[in-house]
Amino acid sequence: MSDEEGIILEEILKRRSGRAYSARPIPDEMLESILEAGRRAPSCANTQAWNFVVIRSPEALAQAHEALSRGNAWGRRAPVMIIIAAKEDGGCSSHDLPYFMMDIGLATQNILLQTVHLGLLGHPTAGWNEDKLKEITGIPTEYRIGTVIFIGYEGDIELLDERNQEREKKRTPRRPLSEIVHWDRW
Ligand SMILES: Cc1cc2nc3c(=O)[nH]c(=O)nc-3n(C[C@H](O)[C@H](O)[C@H](O)COP(=O)(O)O)c2cc1C
Repeated sequence: MSDEEGIILEEILKRRSGRAYSARPIPDEMLESILEAGRRAPSCANTQAWNFVVIRSPEALAQAHEALSRGNAWGRRAPVMIIIAAKEDGGCSSHDLPYFMMDIGLATQNILLQTVHLGLLGHPTAGWNEDKLKEITGIPTEYRIGTVIFIGYEGDIELLDERNQEREKKRTPRRPLSEIVHWDRW
């Protein structure tokens, strides 16, 4: 199946982890629909291990920025950060797998697709200091932060450093289906 066939959801095709954000605020109803999309994700035995910590006031954003890695400095321009946190034992216990992370991942993708649907950019990240971010935001120590998603309108690409300007112009590659799909058996 190729993209050209027009079968794949437009939001899936359009989604990319953009880095050029505008400071333009996101209307409350948009933000609510993004959170609602996250809430509707599937989770193992419906555990819904996720918690969404929405950082959007200028003061809270400025504090949270202190915990970002240097590589994610582009995130400072985004008007909203959604931190997804869950308890390690909050998901399913099947197979001894950390299913809380799967719950977080599925909510993350729903959030990203709704973000695209609204004409916004969304970018999931792992580049931050977890302990620092928990301390700053008051997330209890027994919770783990699975990701921080930056959300906002697309802004001026010229404000990014050269490396990120180049990244912004390209789409990331994917492994071909022939390499990853195993029909009937491995
Ligand atoms: C769990 C996770 C962590 C990520 N962490 C970062 C990050 O810290 N900084 C960053 O710039 N991008 C980060 N990304 C974005 C990926 O680099 C990106 O999704 C991947 O290169 C595919 O590109 P695309 O999302 O534009 O299709 C992360 C993505 C995921 C799913």
